[in-house]
Amino acid sequence: MEAPALEHQILESERQQKFTSLILPNGAAAAAEKNPMAAADYCPSDNDNDIDNDLASTRTASPTTTDFSSSSDDHSTETSDNLHSSNNTSCPPSPITTTATSSSLISKPSYPLPPPSTRLTTILPIDLKTPDHLIPRDPRLIRLTGSHPFNVEPPLTALFEHGFLTPQNLHYVRNHGPVPTSVATATATTTINEEEEVDDSLLNWEFTVEGLVEHPLTITVRELMDASKWDNVTYPVTLVCAGNRRKEQNVLRKSKGFSWGAGGLSTALWTGVGLSEILAKAKPLTKKGGARYVCFEGADQLPNGTYGTSVKLAWAMDPHKGIMVAHKMNGENLHPDHGRPVRVVVPGQIGGRSVKWLKRIVVTKGPSENWYHVFDNRVLPTTVGPEESGEKTEEMERVWRDERYAIYDLNVNSVICEPGHGEVVSLRGKEEGETYRLRGYAYAGGGRRVTRLEVTLDQGKSWRLAGIEYPEDRYREAQDGEELFGGRLDVSWRESCFCWCFWDLEIPLSELREAKDVCIRAMDESLALQPKEMYWSVLGMMNNPWFRVVIHHEGDTLRFEHPTQPMLTSDGWMDRVKKEGGNLANGFWGEKVPGAEENVVKQEPVKEISMVDDKVTRLITLEELRQHDGEEEPWFVVNGQVYDGTPFLEGHPGGAASITGAAGQDVTDEFLAIHSENAKAMMPTYHIGTLTPSALAALKSSSTSDPALSDPNRPIFLQSKTWNSAILTSKESVSPDTKIFHFTLSHPAQSIGLPVGQHLMMRLPDPAKPTESIIRAYTPISDGTSERGTLRVLVKIYYDSPTEDIKGGQMTQALDALALGKAVEFKGPVGKFVYQGRGVCSVNGRERKVKRFVMICGGSGVTPIYQVLRAVAVDDQDGTECLVLDGNRVEGDILMKRELDELVERAKPEGRCRVKYTLSRPGEEWTGLRGRLDKTMLEREVGEGDLREETMVLLCGPEGMQNMVREVLKGLGWKDEDVLVF
Ligand code: MTE
Repeated sequence: MEAPALEHQILESERQQKFTSLILPNGAAAAAEKNPMAAADYCPSDNDNDIDNDLASTRTASPTTTDFSSSSDDHSTETSDNLHSSNNTSCPPSPITTTATSSSLISKPSYPLPPPSTRLTTILPIDLKTPDHLIPRDPRLIRLTGSHPFNVEPPLTALFEHGFLTPQNLHYVRNHGPVPTSVATATATTTINEEEEVDDSLLNWEFTVEGLVEHPLTITVRELMDASKWDNVTYPVTLVCAGNRRKEQNVLRKSKGFSWGAGGLSTALWTGVGLSEILAKAKPLTKKGGARYVCFEGADQLPNGTYGTSVKLAWAMDPHKGIMVAHKMNGENLHPDHGRPVRVVVPGQIGGRSVKWLKRIVVTKGPSENWYHVFDNRVLPTTVGPEESGEKTEEMERVWRDERYAIYDLNVNSVICEPGHGEVVSLRGKEEGETYRLRGYAYAGGGRRVTRLEVTLDQGKSWRLAGIEYPEDRYREAQDGEELFGGRLDVSWRESCFCWCFWDLEIPLSELREAKDVCIRAMDESLALQPKEMYWSVLGMMNNPWFRVVIHHEGDTLRFEHPTQPMLTSDGWMDRVKKEGGNLANGFWGEKVPGAEENVVKQEPVKEISMVDDKVTRLITLEELRQHDGEEEPWFVVNGQVYDGTPFLEGHPGGAASITGAAGQDVTDEFLAIHSENAKAMMPTYHIGTLTPSALAALKSSSTSDPALSDPNRPIFLQSKTWNSAILTSKESVSPDTKIFHFTLSHPAQSIGLPVGQHLMMRLPDPAKPTESIIRAYTPISDGTSERGTLRVLVKIYYDSPTEDIKGGQMTQALDALALGKAVEFKGPVGKFVYQGRGVCSVNGRERKVKRFVMICGGSGVTPIYQVLRAVAVDDQDGTECLVLDGNRVEGDILMKRELDELVERAKPEGRCRVKYTLSRPGEEWTGLRGRLDKTMLEREVGEGDLREETMVLLCGPEGMQNMVREVLKGLGWKDEDVLVF
């Protein structure tokens, strides 16, 4: 049985076999559904950084022209209309208005408060077909890895113009995979803003403190936020992805990482509890147990396990390091992309240590063994190239595990933000002595202050000193005990610099006119200085050479050119110089310098990975492809080539669903965006043919319309390849253990889109394992074609029975516990049988005619039977006869009895439809059949097989009953093809 009584069936088998992990009719699909459509999970790579960067979806800031008729101060605010000018002229405006309030804030504080963040309510079409289809996002964010996973940076201009604090919606995001399902689903019905109440399930989210500690702890988010239990603090921290500016490395030589521009960093005010305080309560066993490290583990499920990393215990215990377990960002609940409901924030270190969706803090003797700790966030020696780094040798393993190459503290770095890339400055009519104000950001790591920022207009022969503003210091002026967003402002006493700073320098236009380029470098308090040369490494991390902007002299104007732009675009002087044949590694940015040695470093030849098997010559039509768009033998298309995913259904790291979800589709973008070179090299094995040009064109046009199919305004709710949410609006008890769950669809005119006899898949987060989902098939009782705007599903709830040591139904109990207003996801239709009406059925796509249905059911197995009976009974033109045999234990167990009886009444002519109920434990008053649905009863009520093949038996109920009925009917001469088990 595949459908409505599935939960029942599972329970039966659980009871019979004491087997608790059966989930779906198709076990492989079930396992995969726990990680649905995880695009990152397509990646069988040994390093998730190894992501193709050839995909573009968004372009960055367009060039701007600066008119110097306005003063240079005005210039700082002219490009953004929703920004407020700041009292600080040398850092970008950081609005002093705030959407969040603090009880102790009476007058405007002198420190920056967060800019109002945009209320995000819309799911972007690009996300609709990804596992993150419930997450509203800001469309301005530049996607660096195609549609999924979500790795984005804000346009540099927008980031800089917002000033010291970045609104949540513009904050860069680095997600290795999908946002955990439980977080996404719990967020789906709420808007992401400061007024929102955090969903109960997220307040109850627990993380543990365990390992080498005297007092292991389990802390809920609710407790963490409780000021009477934990000392909540608020302070600003700049998070920087270790890949910030990686595009520059990739242009020099392709690294195993995607192309961040210079916007892979952002600053927020974080509120939470100091990790040192949490650890102090847990009491690490340093002397007795040899505790030296603290590992963090997130809830996201990735191809190589959960995301996790570690820091040294000594740092974690040191309040000066400021490591925090945060639940608020800029006074708002964390956005799902930023780790809702709770994450670690490690100031001064690469963003990769700040684990999101925190589940475990484990005190250990050694550093984290998590895959992402070992094979990510490292700067290997420059001698290690992409190929060796992937070798499975002991030596390479040793290199990867060498903790000396792991990166923690950020290195010193700086960027020119103004002039922006493509900015044009007109020199016409400019007075002698007029200046241009260069501006940008700088940061250092480990709490160190950036102590100088130097600018050169002659490629390093001479330098001039820029002014630096440290907006972070303004928080140190806050009064003692001042509170912000429910946390004590906690900066005044510490000396550390955890945030970016802003520099500026007025340069006379006359000097800019003479310069070929402008370069900058920063130094920090340990005298670490940005190098002139890039240190290339295989993961392309920590790129921090001088930031160089080329000046093009074009008539009366100066045009500025940054080194690169994020992602695909080949804008920027680095790509240009490379295309012109310059050697970017010659020490002069690829320029031809007389006397300078060329070809200092041999350029890496661009290696094309072939994904096709040259021996494969088959042409595949759209029709053929369409025959493989389901779970059986799924084919998918990349670059016009057809691949058979069947052999990989079991072994694919993303699970079978990520392949079946792609079945029949052109998935070129997702595939190329997320797969490693290694994965691509495996593709010829699965290559089975080339799509005909017309098929490819047809596929592309149909796939571009697909997002519209998930558009909330679409006429039909159910989609076969996309999970769509409906809101649970009421629960109606129809028996002590059965309820009708009412869902509201996207709009009142929307129809469910479920043919009679078919089922839908329902998906819920597993309350016991928040990172996993439970999926079951059900047949709703709504009319799948005529009912509008709502969906009703009858579900028998299988409760745990601790006294009998019986485990109840996972799904049914989770659904029962779900609060009204929550979203539940659906997909479909599924099933092999459709009743088309007036005696015409379709079984596995083949049509057959019937004159009579014998429908046998028990318990909640009545639902598909009810669908078919209704279709027959309400159509007076339908002459099909129906006999329903419904077996239950006691009268109260009969589901939908009134509705079934009404249909019998309704059917014309009288007697065309009959329902017979039988009870195994009938009361004295019972007038229906008595006894089990057994051989005797079936012989009597159903009789011998119909040799004319005019009758079909439809069967749905507990597995034991189904098997018994099939056996008996076989003995009575019924052919297999005449007995359909739902
Ligand atoms: N935590 C989890 N659980 N999963 C992740 O993919 N990415 C890390 C870190 N924490 C990651 C994570 C990386 S590499 C960075 S740079 C930061 O999160 C980014 O944080 P943000 O997305 O909030 O900006």
